Amino acid sequence: MVASSASFVESPTLDRDCTTLSRHVLQQLQSFEAEAQDISAIMNRIALAGKLIARRLSRAGLMEGVLGFTGEENVQGESVKKMDVYANDVFISVFKQSGLVCRLASEEMEKPYYIPENCPVGRYTLLYDPIDGSSNVDINLNVGSIFSIRQQEGEDLNGEAEDLLQDGHKQLAAGYILYGPSTMLVYSIGKGVHSFILDPSLGEFILAEENIVMPSHGKIYSVNEGNFWQWEDSIREYIRYMHRHDGYTARYSGALVGDLHRILTQGGVFLYPGTQKKPEGKLRLLYETAPLAWLIEQAGGKASTGTQPLLDFVPTMLHQRTPAILGSTEDVELVESFIREGLRQVVQTV
Ligand code: AHG
Ligand code: MN
Ligand code: MN
Repeated sequence: MVASSASFVESPTLDRDCTTLSRHVLQQLQSFEAEAQDISAIMNRIALAGKLIARRLSRAGLMEGVLGFTGEENVQGESVKKMDVYANDVFISVFKQSGLVCRLASEEMEKPYYIPENCPVGRYTLLYDPIDGSSNVDINLNVGSIFSIRQQEGEDLNGEAEDLLQDGHKQLAAGYILYGPSTMLVYSIGKGVHSFILDPSLGEFILAEENIVMPSHGKIYSVNEGNFWQWEDSIREYIRYMHRHDGYTARYSGALVGDLHRILTQGGVFLYPGTQKKPEGKLRLLYETAPLAWLIEQAGGKASTGTQPLLDFVPTMLHQRTPAILGSTEDVELVESFIREGLRQVVQTV
């Protein structure tokens, strides 16, 4: 059927009133107190980092020195891409002389990075994954950035940032930027989840959807099945169940932000369980799974390590990893039920 010309008329809701990210954050905070002003200013700087990274990604194949590896390994033992380094530095530079963020901790830095001139006033820490899914950079597929804001507690005199070793409920705000066909920013300050699309002609993130509520069930499961042979029996049983039942379909892009964004909007489950080589899985708690768990829960979904709520998990080190099961409540609970059954059988045989 040929679409009527009416269907090409722009939806009135799309061009409505152009709520920008900065206006939205202030509306959400509904306060002129210092902390509200700070969080709003921090969000604006994160948005600036997102714009700078998006700009570079959009020209990556046309510029020298953007694609490929640096030849170095990060603290995780992973090969570092040039974009990882660029994006890591962008987040640092947007917070210099901001008076906002005293410390930044990222996947690419073994220890927190201090901006001493901010510390007398900026009592916040930014935790971030500058480029998530960096294996996608060189092939022009979606990648993301993940961020989390926490209050600094205590003086951190020895510079070890031990106050960061707390559960995910301590986050003040969290979100991600998805660099796809368009650049999206999704965030929560604990009052729902909201998405924004970067309008490059304005250079502004414009509100796309407010108070995202995810379905309680979805057909998608997102997991790297190449790890099948390395999983516990319970996870293998769960995947066999998926294979044998109608109504499920698999999607996995190798970039958590993109895969999670699909789950957030359409429902389903993303999982990265422990493997034989990495019993705690691959994903890092403070700047990958905890911020995403916070968003998922704010949207009415569920986030689990398999044995406990992910946001309750207290890390013992900065780069702590956790198994992660994130998504629609019913779908996460299905995975948990297989894990519980697996544990029950282990106890019975002991
Ligand atoms: P990063 O690029 O920040 O290291 O993150 C990659 C992560 C995540 O984005 C993705 O879901 C996962 O690693 C993919 O890992 P596998 O290749 O092991 O599936
Ligand atoms: Mn990552
Ligand atoms: Mn990364």
